[in-house]
Amino acid sequence: MDNVKETIESLRKEIDEHNYNYYVCNNPTISDREFDEKLALLQKLENENPQYFSAESPTQRVGSDISAGFTQVEHRYPMLSLGNTYSIAEVEAFYNRVAQGLNESFEIVAELKYDGTSISLTYEDGKLLRAVTRGDGTKGDDVTANVKTIRSIPLQLRGENYPSSFEIRGEILMPWSVFEKLNYEREQQEEALFANPRNAASGTLKLQNSSIVAKRGLDAYLYYMLGENLPSDNHYQNLATAASWGFKISPDTKICHSLQDMIDYINYWDTERKNLPVATDGIVFKVASLKQQKALGYTAKSPRWAIAYKFQAEQACTRLNYVSFQIGRTGAVTPVANLDPVQLSGTIVKRASLHNADIIESLDLHIGDMVYVEKGGEIIPKITGVDTEARMLLIGDKVKFIKNCPECGTPLIRYEGEAAHYCPNDTGCPPQIKGRIEHYISRKAMNIDGLGEETVDTFYKQGLVKDIADLYTLKVEDISPIERMGEKSAQNIIDGVKASLNVPFERVVYAIGIRFVGETVAKKLAFAFKNIDTLISATKEELIAVDEIGERIAESVISYFSEPRNIELIEKLRDFGVQMQLSEDRISQFSETLKGLSIVISGTFEKHSRDEYKAMIEQHGGKNTSSVSAKTDYILAGDNMGPAKLEKAQKLGVKIINENDFLNMIEK
Ligand code: IVH
Repeated sequence: MDNVKETIESLRKEIDEHNYNYYVCNNPTISDREFDEKLALLQKLENENPQYFSAESPTQRVGSDISAGFTQVEHRYPMLSLGNTYSIAEVEAFYNRVAQGLNESFEIVAELKYDGTSISLTYEDGKLLRAVTRGDGTKGDDVTANVKTIRSIPLQLRGENYPSSFEIRGEILMPWSVFEKLNYEREQQEEALFANPRNAASGTLKLQNSSIVAKRGLDAYLYYMLGENLPSDNHYQNLATAASWGFKISPDTKICHSLQDMIDYINYWDTERKNLPVATDGIVFKVASLKQQKALGYTAKSPRWAIAYKFQAEQACTRLNYVSFQIGRTGAVTPVANLDPVQLSGTIVKRASLHNADIIESLDLHIGDMVYVEKGGEIIPKITGVDTEARMLLIGDKVKFIKNCPECGTPLIRYEGEAAHYCPNDTGCPPQIKGRIEHYISRKAMNIDGLGEETVDTFYKQGLVKDIADLYTLKVEDISPIERMGEKSAQNIIDGVKASLNVPFERVVYAIGIRFVGETVAKKLAFAFKNIDTLISATKEELIAVDEIGERIAESVISYFSEPRNIELIEKLRDFGVQMQLSEDRISQFSETLKGLSIVISGTFEKHSRDEYKAMIEQHGGKNTSSVSAKTDYILAGDNMGPAKLEKAQKLGVKIINENDFLNMIEK
């Protein structure tokens, strides 16, 4: 018996080694077939001896089709983004800021900026414990099951000298070759294509079925280690050590000793990156010393010790075949250029946004024109110009903006001061109706499980839902007969709709879809007015008095509630049991105790997370700011408060309080 255990263990070790050689070192030492045979043998032995199960076994990388949804996990350290630059001059400015801020010699680590989807991995005692997406930076999705299928990510670290607990962050990527093959297969199956490898990688990572993820050939480069007991005070050194633990670290990372070194790195990779197996969209420069990083600190959004240099968006020239018009949930009309397919930074582009009527006019666009397309870092490329030289003698028709909605025929209108045209028929125009329902059920709104764009479309076409309130009248027996639905999915939807009755008021305010009222504004409104009736009767002055609410939003809120049918809708939702007021809990959490006070949070805490403290400050009317200045009233300090902050606070005489002091303060 023990013999089997030994065999299993030695097979695991051996297969891990081959995985490492193949996926991390790109240097396989056995054939695929031999590898598959070993894996099959291990799988067989594990099946026969379930008592020797291990979550770190290489057999676990095949995934499973059990879908569990993703739980949200709070990041121990927020996942920040980087400041972007687009020119050497801005890189120089960064270099000078660092030099001035440090006033001592320093090194810069230059890295490629990989264009995938970021991930944070937590290792405990050498084992991969958790993998979480960036999410909103403070909370992300737990995608551990999917990440475990990525062969280049170690489930068990090599060597021994790793800290007992640490995080490592990096980018999950879909290599070009895999991306092209995947899109080819999707085209054959008449499935929607992925716009680029980044979308393909993030889409894959969010699949519910990890056994499909396992087959998608994702890869990962790691570039940032965090934790209390890191091996070195030098970022470059830490990456090298991480490589020795089995992580895939870019071999193209370099130390720069001068601005010239940085510029040379940029110039080299500007062209050379096209030969890489994965997509890159720029270069990241980081101050090497962690001590110096700490001294430089952070702005509200990004570190002062790092910067991203973005490569120029590539441009392509192609023919404009025709222009179509799309109607969004708010009725806004987007003109779309339909093009001869063209390669653009490695992907094929067939459609591009034309923004609005003014832009079409200023381009003097004609059908058949050769147009320049650019990717502005975003998914949908845009038309930036016309090659008028290329115009033939037989020039096509001038592109005219439509006068009527292509979906419902209603004459379009244009609000004063706005570039966009709108279809005003919000009660009768199908994409607007469906769009509002889709917005209502979306994750950040009511988060209704089991319902998606397609289902909404079907329900709408069958006359089952005409507005968001109709969702609450759905019955299993009405929807289960629908093709491809079935009892189980139907029940799922009904349960999801029912569960939405518990969604807190602030998200309801967001979900009802008032123009210009995004997530943050909805929260502000909900906390300021506390229930829907007060919000409905709020005057423009009262609305503007709320922090961050300006004239444009105030007017939009008033106009929304001045529509009798919106009031009717709210009444219906209220009758169904949708939350139309802040819960007692929320109200009691809310006061003006900290009104007018500006508080900086620093360090780590025991009783609550930093985010929770931030939320508490805001709920009690205070302002949470990121850097200490003369305007700071308090610093809420936990353990390991940054030394730079401490020094500054002492110099400015800012009061430092601990978490108990703070909790006492808001208790009153
Ligand atoms: S460092 C606090 N290094 O770019 C610094 N990021 O806007 C954390 N990225 O969210 C990021 N390659 O997804 C870093 N070598 C690299 C990177 C990199 C790609 C992505 C990452 C991040 C975004 C920054």
